[in-house]
Amino acid sequence: MIETMRSEQDGTLFFLHTKSATLSLLVSAEGFLLLPYWGARIKTSDISYIVKELPFVSYMASTEGRKNFQLGNLPQPYPSFGNSDLRSPAFLFTYEDGSRTTDLSYRGYTIHKGKTKLDGLPFIRPDSSAQTLELQLFDRLKEISVVISMTVYEDYDAITQSVRAENQGKTQTLQIEKLCSASIDLLDSDFEFLHLAGAWGREFQIKRQKLEQGILSIGSAGGASGHEHNPFAALASPGTDETHGQVYAMNLVYSGNFLASAEVGMHRNTRFQIGLQPFDFSWRLEPGECFQSPEAVLVYSGKGLEGMSNSFHRLYQDCLIPLRFAQKERPILLNSWEAHYYKFCGEDLIRLARQATQVGAELFVLDDGWFGKRMDESSSVGDWIANEEKLGGSLSSLIEKINREGISFGLWAEPEMVSPDSDLYRAHPEWAIQVQGRRMETSREEYVLDLSNPDVCKYIIDSISAILSENPVTYVKWDMNRNFTNLGSTYLPSCRQKEQAHRYMLGLYHVLDVLTNRFPHVLFEGCAGGGGRFDPGMLYYTPQMWVSDDTDAVERLTIQYGASLVYPSIAVECHISETPNHQVGRRESMAARAATAMWGNLGLELNFDRMAGEEINCLMDEIAFYKKVRPVIQVGRL
Ligand code: GLA
Repeated sequence: MIETMRSEQDGTLFFLHTKSATLSLLVSAEGFLLLPYWGARIKTSDISYIVKELPFVSYMASTEGRKNFQLGNLPQPYPSFGNSDLRSPAFLFTYEDGSRTTDLSYRGYTIHKGKTKLDGLPFIRPDSSAQTLELQLFDRLKEISVVISMTVYEDYDAITQSVRAENQGKTQTLQIEKLCSASIDLLDSDFEFLHLAGAWGREFQIKRQKLEQGILSIGSAGGASGHEHNPFAALASPGTDETHGQVYAMNLVYSGNFLASAEVGMHRNTRFQIGLQPFDFSWRLEPGECFQSPEAVLVYSGKGLEGMSNSFHRLYQDCLIPLRFAQKERPILLNSWEAHYYKFCGEDLIRLARQATQVGAELFVLDDGWFGKRMDESSSVGDWIANEEKLGGSLSSLIEKINREGISFGLWAEPEMVSPDSDLYRAHPEWAIQVQGRRMETSREEYVLDLSNPDVCKYIIDSISAILSENPVTYVKWDMNRNFTNLGSTYLPSCRQKEQAHRYMLGLYHVLDVLTNRFPHVLFEGCAGGGGRFDPGMLYYTPQMWVSDDTDAVERLTIQYGASLVYPSIAVECHISETPNHQVGRRESMAARAATAMWGNLGLELNFDRMAGEEINCLMDEIAFYKKVRPVIQVGRL
């Protein structure tokens, strides 16, 4: 619920109430936007004293010559650069004359039911009670409008926020150097900065660091949200555990480069920000053009981490994951990767599918190695045409045989990449991300395709559509296996090169939007070398995600627990794999492996020919048990 009231000194107060939290904004009589309160739910009342009673500091500049009005000391929801507040601004514009000061003043607001769709970007769909506050800010000198949109999801105890900048001038361009999705000032600094860090095969490790004066930040710059840091951060009061403590959390609905930071200023307050990574980013905004930031999700919990997790889980399951899959139980799949890697023939696959059906699996997934002339990682990515010689016939005849075993069929693809040794690269070397004249770096013997180029997006849409329309495929594992290096585009003009990483994401979202709408029955699973792009942006298109290439049952405990802090179980794909485990060599019983894999969507990564009969019997019992508890795990509350 959103309420407004006039404060004592003629300012306007806004109250964004969720079930158990309130975020309040104040437009001061001077036209500045302040943030007096975010925390446990309070009544709508004149709380402007919170900012009025802050002590003033003698040496600090007073804003606009007004005695005792020092922005550098005041909590703000979208601070500018150039005034007396010397902390990190929420945004930064460079104008044609070289100046960087922007002076936003409040122009007005609207409150409306529901929410406007974010153009070209994933977003949290409005529920029936959603209400949106739009605050309009304006810089008179440069004629730039900035609109902050905040949507209240009362029942979910969550608020979303995004920002839109518009160049309303007639002649001048400007460069957007930074545009946070959310920036929150809290009048306290006694927090732990909680985040999810890791690496390939070791994603989602929970980290807690006490905040001290200075800036603590996490982020990514390699083209994806990344294995290293999830686009999630929280400030937790000391001693916070699952059921006690105050938590202020932010999660970015975005899959590319991001930055989240907490800055403790000299007056022991904290500025908490999340948004697009400003490093190596700049966006040219011509007269009349708009730029839309991704959306951030803000959650306050006064009941520890569990309260926070429950808000995210419910919100994502109901309002983020594609509706047609949100409450739909997911099939138990068998993935061929650890069973055969690249070495298989059609007969091996049919046999594996038959065995998978016998133990109770419902979907057979053919992982890497089915296309072009692919026998190992050295070739063919980009050539999405079945290798009929290797499969022993056409893809559709293989699928028919597999379906006849009583199991549906899914396929792996890595559409954003290209092998140097591929027909696609030979035909279009200019489509790879590159800096002309510089050495091309491969990773996993791949280059990254430049999705800022619409022709590349069209190629991906057409080639994947051809497979999906010609074959009864019910599932796609959408993989992405390397970072950007030598970022450069042969398509973008030199003045727009720093837009490439974000334009890549817009291109990817467009591709996923077209494909998931064109093939609504296909279940897409997101993957990026495991959990390298496991974020709310991808969840909007791909209802489930491969959380790690490390399938060891013990290692998976911390990985899956970390993921569960933010993401619902139904989004997390967990497989029972072979013993000894292929990544770490550990031996674990079937019971232990199955217990871990039952945290989310159960799947299998097994070669039955290498398993004893007793182990297979035990597996069958575990699968039968999972089928009974599946509705609770996948659509219940954790
Ligand atoms: C990535 C994925 C794996 C598997 C391989 C295939 O590493 O994370 O699950 O699909 O690619 O090459």
